[in-house]
Amino acid sequence: MSDTILEMRDITKTFPGVKALSNVNLNVERGEIHAIVGENGAGKSTLMKVLSGVYPFGSYSGDIQFEGKECRFNGIHDSEKLGIVIIHQELALVPMLSIAENMFLGNEQARLGIIDWDVARRRAKELLRKVGLREDPDTLITNIGTGKQQLVEIAKALAKDVKLLILDEPTASLSEKDSQALLDLLLEFKKQGMTAILISHKLNEVKKVADRVTVIRDGQTIETMDREDVTEDRIITSMVGRTMEDRYPSREPKIGETIFEVKDWSVYHPLHPDRQIIKGINLHLKKGEVVGIAGLMGAGRTEFAMSVFGRAYGANVTGEVYVHGKRADTATVGKAVAAGLAYATEDRKTYGLNLIDHIKHNVTIANLPGVSRSGVIDDMGELKVANEYRKKTNIRSSSVYQITGNLSGGNQQKVVLSKWLFANPDVLILDEPTRGIDVGAKYEIYAIINKLAGEGKGILVISSEMPELLGICDRIYVLNEGRIVGELAGHEASQEKIMRAIVRGEEKAAS
Ligand SMILES: Nc1ncnc2c1ncn2[C@@H]1O[C@H](COP(=O)(O)OP(=O)(O)OP(=O)(O)O)[C@@H](O)[C@H]1O
Ligand SMILES: [Mg+2]
Repeated sequence: MSDTILEMRDITKTFPGVKALSNVNLNVERGEIHAIVGENGAGKSTLMKVLSGVYPFGSYSGDIQFEGKECRFNGIHDSEKLGIVIIHQELALVPMLSIAENMFLGNEQARLGIIDWDVARRRAKELLRKVGLREDPDTLITNIGTGKQQLVEIAKALAKDVKLLILDEPTASLSEKDSQALLDLLLEFKKQGMTAILISHKLNEVKKVADRVTVIRDGQTIETMDREDVTEDRIITSMVGRTMEDRYPSREPKIGETIFEVKDWSVYHPLHPDRQIIKGINLHLKKGEVVGIAGLMGAGRTEFAMSVFGRAYGANVTGEVYVHGKRADTATVGKAVAAGLAYATEDRKTYGLNLIDHIKHNVTIANLPGVSRSGVIDDMGELKVANEYRKKTNIRSSSVYQITGNLSGGNQQKVVLSKWLFANPDVLILDEPTRGIDVGAKYEIYAIINKLAGEGKGILVISSEMPELLGICDRIYVLNEGRIVGELAGHEASQEKIMRAIVRGEEKAAS
C-alpha cells in the first residue's frame, strides 16, 4: 500500500521575467529515494526551495502537504521543524570554522542560548561515525576535501532529526569513489526508513538508487517513472523532449605542430612549503588537439592548471612554459592571458564569475579590448557580443542583463565558458567544464570544444568523468599524486587502462 509523505500540487513560481515553475506536481512516498531530473534551468532547485521554505508561503502558488498536513512555511526553520532538510547545490559550510561548529551553527545544541561545546563535539563525533567520516570534529572545513565536506553536510542534516532529506546535486563535485560512498550511505538511510529526494545530472547514479524518477522540463512536470521503467535513454528523451542518438559529437581531428608545452613543472603547497604538490610534470599540446588530464580527486590536476595560469596556486613554482615554441611568462594571470592562455575554472563561485553582476559584463570581462574603441567600452558592441555568446552556449536567462548569481547552476557554467571563448585564447584549459551540466548541454559544450579544435586551438580538459575524457580526447594524460603516471592515445584509452596507470603509479611511489 502506498503511503504518501509529500505532495506538492500545482506549484507555480515566478521571478521577474521568468516563470520558473508552472503547475508542478510532485508526489513522494515514505521511504523511497525519489529522483528529480531535468535540464539546466528546468526548475529543480527552485522547486526544492519552495518545499523547504527558502521561498516562503505567499511567494508561490499551489499547495504542499507533508505527512497529510498542509504546510505554509515562512522560512527554512519551519520546514526543518517538520524534518524536511535540504542540502543545497552550492555547499554552505563556513571554511574557517571547525566541522563541529559548522554542524551546529544555527541548530542550537544550546541550553539558555549557550552552546555546550563538549556536548556538541561528542554529538558531532557520533554523527560523523554515522556517515562514515573519520575526522576530528575540531578540524577546519577548509582543510578537508569536497567529498568530506559533503559528508559533513549530511551529518549536519542528521543532527536535525530528518524525515525527508533533499540533496541537490550532491555528487556534482565528487570523485567516483566519494560519489559511490555517498550513494551507499543514502541506500543505508533508506533501509532505516528515511525518505530522500535526489537531484542529479548523473543519470547512471539516478538509475542505480532511485525508486522513482520525476522529470521536469521548462518548469513543468513531464512524468514520474517507476523503477522498472527507468533507463538512461528514456530519461534523456523525456528531459530534452527528443531522442539523442549520441552523447558525443563526432569530429575529424586535424592535428598540427606543438602549440603549448610545460617542462619540469614543480609546485609546493602554499602553506606547507615542504609538501611538493606537483612533481616535475612534462606535457605538451598540439594545434587542433583535445588532450585530457585524468586522475583521482586530489591528484593535483587543478593545482597544476592554476599554477601554470598566473601562479594562481602554489609556492616555489619552477619549470618552463612554451607557447608556439617560445618561452612564455605566465607568472601573473594578466601575463598568462597575454601569452594566449585561458583557464576556465572548476570553481565558478570563487574564481570564475562575478555573481552580483549580469551576464553581459561577465562574458566580456576577460577581453575588454574586444569590445572597446579607443580604450572606451562600446556598449552596443558589448551587448552584441554578450547576446552572440549567450546564443552560442545556449544560456537560459531572461536576457543578458540577468544577474549571474540568479542563474541555475549549469547556466552559470555556460557563462564561464562564454567568457573564455570570447577571450579567444590559443590554448584553453577547461577544468571540469561540464560539472553540473545536463546531458543535452554537455553535447553542446563538446561541439564547441570540437569547433575550437577545428580552428587550430589547443584544448586541455581536466575532468573527473572518465567517459567524458574517453568521448572527446585525442590523447589522455593520467595524473596521480602530482606526477604523470601514464599517457594514452584516445583510441586506445579505456577506464580500465586509466585506473591501471593510477594504481601502477601508486605502487611505484610506494616502492
Ligand atoms: N533568484 C532568482 N531570480 C531570478 N531568476 C531565477 C532565480 N532563481 C532561479 N531563477 C530562474 O529560474 C529558472 C529555474 O532555475 P533552477 O535553479 O530552479 O534550475 P535547475 O533545474 O536547478 O537547473 P540546474 O540543473 O542548472 O541547477 C531558471 O531560468 C533561473 O534562471
Ligand atoms: Mg539547480
